[in-house]
Amino acid sequence: MLIKNCRVLAESGELVLKDILIKDGKIVEINDKIDRLDEEILDISGKIVIPGCIDVHTHMREPGLTSKEDLESGSKACVKGGVTTFLDMPNTVPNTITERDLNEKERLAQNRCYCDYGFHFGGSRFENSKEIERVKDRVATTKIFLNMSTGDMLVESEEVLSKIFKSSKFVSVHSEGEMVQKAIELSKRYDKPLYLCHISTAEELEIIKKAKKEGAKIYVEVAPHHLVFTEDNRDNFLRMKPELKSKSDCEALWRGIDEGVIDTIGTDHAPHTVLEKEKKIIFGVPSVENYLEILLKEVKNKRISLKKLVELTSLNPAKIFKIKGKNGLNVGSDADLVVIDLDKEYLVKRKDIVSKSGWSPYENMQTGGTVETTIVRGEIVYHKGEFYNKIGKGVSYYE
Ligand code: DOR
Ligand code: ZN
Ligand code: ZN
Repeated sequence: MLIKNCRVLAESGELVLKDILIKDGKIVEINDKIDRLDEEILDISGKIVIPGCIDVHTHMREPGLTSKEDLESGSKACVKGGVTTFLDMPNTVPNTITERDLNEKERLAQNRCYCDYGFHFGGSRFENSKEIERVKDRVATTKIFLNMSTGDMLVESEEVLSKIFKSSKFVSVHSEGEMVQKAIELSKRYDKPLYLCHISTAEELEIIKKAKKEGAKIYVEVAPHHLVFTEDNRDNFLRMKPELKSKSDCEALWRGIDEGVIDTIGTDHAPHTVLEKEKKIIFGVPSVENYLEILLKEVKNKRISLKKLVELTSLNPAKIFKIKGKNGLNVGSDADLVVIDLDKEYLVKRKDIVSKSGWSPYENMQTGGTVETTIVRGEIVYHKGEFYNKIGKGVSYYE
């Protein structure tokens, strides 16, 4: 496939016009002008092309909780929102804490996903270090819940924590407040890289900044809802863990992005149905379907550059998690591309949502543009409201 007239980010952050040639799912040439008569041509007449988002933090709810979402519906929401790879969390039912659970998840995902996918394994309070050893090359991280959240995966025992850290290659944590410091200490003690999910306060960022200065191997994620909303927006629907914070915390997160303390934007896509949300307090909000378009508004507001947004949503996640083949808009990389129309802003409406959860935290907000086309390894999986080809494959990790 030859994609003509793409506006792409240059090293300088400026947009330049290029043609992109794709063969066997890979980008093989990027040049000012490429002409091929024997290729299928997609002329996008100057719209922006960015590398597909790699969302390293989703809860697709399969197996066990598939009335909220499943791998098929979740990946559909992904490609509508510009996500071409997602890494899913282990707090499903059953929790993903044994090799068998992981095998089953991989089986379930086969031929049902519109985009590529991978899995985080769960650190269990029942101590599953043997299982962790067995699967560690097949998973993104061992995820540990250090605070209580949705699901039942809290790990408190020091002894169990030490075994989980020792047996893991890379650990990700749900940690809030004091638990952030705790996670950093464990990561240092056992010399394991650490991924801090959804950091949400100025205070946590200060701790992290200091640790990073001292050379700790830690990576920091922020969730889009913590960038876009504050506690003033909190209602029954906008409840999640960590909860929405103050305006000054929100500003600190934006500063953390500017200063390079924050490495990634991970959605924490945590679908619950409208009915559940109306009935009770249940933590988590869906996100993959709209976050990129909503963040494009912040690009237009000059809160973040497009270049930085691409780093946080795609380039850094690929590097941090060592995902094979995902190397941005470069020759040799998987052709995971998203075509964006910045002139097509629209209001997010519940009726348009494809996630099984059936709602969005961004309802009635104006986007900064529209994801027009999503391409996964050279195949169009989404184009102007239509979905094609469940070609998603499991990713692997280098090293
Ligand atoms: O709000 C949240 N929801 N935070 C989490 O840590 C888990 C998630 C979920 O699975 O619903
Ligand atoms: Zn969490
Ligand atoms: Zn989460």
